[in-house]
Amino acid sequence: MIRLAEQIGLKALSRLDPESAHRATITALKSGLLPPQSPPRSDRLTVRIGPLTFPNPVGIAAGFDKDAEAVEPVFRLGFGFTEIGSVTPRPQPGNPKPRVFRLPEANAVINRYGFNSQGHVRVHERLLRARSSGIVGINVGANKDSTDRVADYVAGIRRFADCASYFTVNISSPNTPGLRDLQARAALQSLLDAVLAERERAQAEVGRELPVFLKIAPDLTDADLDDVCGVAGNSQLDGLIVSNTTLSRAGLPAGPPADESGGLSGAPLFERATIVLAKVRRRVGPGLPLIGVGGITDARRAWDKVAAGATLLQVYTGLVYQGPSLLIDILKGLDAELAARGLATLADAVGIAEADWADRALPPT
Ligand code: FNR
Repeated sequence: MIRLAEQIGLKALSRLDPESAHRATITALKSGLLPPQSPPRSDRLTVRIGPLTFPNPVGIAAGFDKDAEAVEPVFRLGFGFTEIGSVTPRPQPGNPKPRVFRLPEANAVINRYGFNSQGHVRVHERLLRARSSGIVGINVGANKDSTDRVADYVAGIRRFADCASYFTVNISSPNTPGLRDLQARAALQSLLDAVLAERERAQAEVGRELPVFLKIAPDLTDADLDDVCGVAGNSQLDGLIVSNTTLSRAGLPAGPPADESGGLSGAPLFERATIVLAKVRRRVGPGLPLIGVGGITDARRAWDKVAAGATLLQVYTGLVYQGPSLLIDILKGLDAELAARGLATLADAVGIAEADWADRALPPT
């Protein structure tokens, strides 16, 4: 019955332009219009990273609730964690509309929002009001016209230290010109030095650990990955999120809307993001937590991400086409796979197929 209602809701949303459909979804969540879901409770699916215990491994990826409008409603759907943002220090409108496009046949989305954000002050106030007991990550970004991007990230850590469960430093959005250059070795080193020093100060102030993750692009070459993993692996960073959207259009039919500029997410991103995930896992070794994101559209792909090296998972585009029941399908599928293999926890499955994925050639750009 709930699935039928979900199908009707998705059909109605698909008639709206994608940005209005997203606004309508957030409004429906805020108004309690979506029925709550009860995810399967299984000790096998609990994940521990540093100070955090994730009730299940599937979170909402950044970009869905940029301004922290639907924190508790997302938890009522059963997600193990949510990631707010990207949030920029000052409010900014992002790129002109239209700036998001559906590719339903490909199960994909192209977006060039360009960090539309209500800014630190409003998002912070909203989070304080929400007082969530769930795991809330804050994905920090930089203003488009910033003259000191490193300072923007540092300001994010300072502002949200009292309400963040963890931070994500997003240097991989393709929609802010020059942002991805921060993934180069020297730039990344200076950024992490500054961000992690601020994290130390913030931890002392709030009296708890504040894990910091770095979110990277799927369009990095092997040499780029050597640099990023070298710097990240030698720092106090707590993990990497692999990956953001891709600039590649490989496998999509030429012409509109595939030729719209922006980042591609969803099913066509899966292979690339999963290969890069495994390449990162190979470089950093088994100890560093990795969050696998990109093209998870069903339980099998969720399992593949874990087997390629993901400690935790995030989804966004899969929800656009399948609705929140995707979460339940994924959790049931992961738990059944663990049971069938006689594995006690998801952690036991992380990276079991790393070599299969890491040795594959990336699809052409
Ligand atoms: C995103 N994503 C994103 N990521 C980020 O770090 N900051 C952001 O503000 C956004 N904004 C955003 C908007 C839209 C419309 C989409 C579709 C995506 C990227 C997202 O978090 C994720 O990394 C990718 O979408 C890949 O996962 P899926 O969508 O294939 O599950």
